Amino acid sequence: MKSPLERLRAELARDGIGAAFISAPLNVQWLTGFTGSFGRVLVTPDHALFLTDSRYTIQAAEEVGEEFEQRSFGQPKRMVDLLNEALADAGVKECGFEDTITVSARAALEKDHPEVVWSPLSGQAEKLRRVKSPAEIAKIRDACRLADACMEHIQRLIQPGIAEFDIHLEVEFFYRRNRAELAFEPIVVSGANSARPHGKASEKKLERGDFVTIDCGGRLAGYCSDITRTFVVEEASDRTREIYEAVLEAQLAALDAMAPGKTGKEIDEASRIPLRAKGLDQYFGHGLGHGLGLYVHDPGSLSGRSEDVLEPGMVFTVEPGVYIEGFGGVRIEDDVLVTETGIEILTHFSKELLVLP
Ligand code: GLY
Ligand code: MN
Repeated sequence: MKSPLERLRAELARDGIGAAFISAPLNVQWLTGFTGSFGRVLVTPDHALFLTDSRYTIQAAEEVGEEFEQRSFGQPKRMVDLLNEALADAGVKECGFEDTITVSARAALEKDHPEVVWSPLSGQAEKLRRVKSPAEIAKIRDACRLADACMEHIQRLIQPGIAEFDIHLEVEFFYRRNRAELAFEPIVVSGANSARPHGKASEKKLERGDFVTIDCGGRLAGYCSDITRTFVVEEASDRTREIYEAVLEAQLAALDAMAPGKTGKEIDEASRIPLRAKGLDQYFGHGLGHGLGLYVHDPGSLSGRSEDVLEPGMVFTVEPGVYIEGFGGVRIEDDVLVTETGIEILTHFSKELLVLP
């Protein structure tokens, strides 16, 4: 696979863009390998310049690939000085900027570099980030392995009397102990709280008959995992089993439908058909899934409006849920790689209804 820089250049050329200023941290990381908080890249057809400040000079020399010239600045220079020099050296007259920057950052570009015509890019880097390289997939695979291990570990805590917050704490500790960051704030919700898809762990203690939904993921070597399982405490009623099995059926239907060439909205719809048949689709309000990579909500989506066409190398979460206010909710989420012939599920923790302990 071509390097991110080669892919971005080809995409910019296709869109008739001569120069691009890349500033979103995850796009900079994807493009260059740089993991610090302040990096900028100026890409032209025959040159690529990485800019940072003196806090990161040594780190950038280690992380940023040889395709990039590196310059860093220290006091009294500022980024604006470095960028001015870079634009002049490269003879840039028109330049694309990332349309995710703030209004004030855009105003500053126009004020500080008035000799350049600035126009918004249209998410070229984000579009390319949807298809992962083999090296990126290997990192996501490792992060998913850790998410499975976290679920294996955490299921042992499920019992009446333990607070959601203490489970949350153990999830966080597990990832950090394993040298990962949290990919996002873990969700631990039980009983009626589990009807909040993105509820916050509270002091509520688990009770017999509760659903307990745990949604968590780690970031290892920059790449994220995102897994959700719903457990039941001690005893599952018929209604509890019915709802759990319906969500599992929805998840399996979506996995079954996934293949290269399908659209995000087709997969989303595949998950809703079994829920509709049981009158539960009204309780599934969010989209089916999202891209996964450097960010937990990486570019790409499986939702009712997604025109994204699945391609080998894309990684998505598949996470249907049913949330009934006053009763509780269930979500089951796996991370899934699209392959040449279908899919590979990257998270493997059991999806059988686990009534614990
Ligand atoms: N796992 C959290 C989310 O997908 O938003
Ligand atoms: Mn998710």
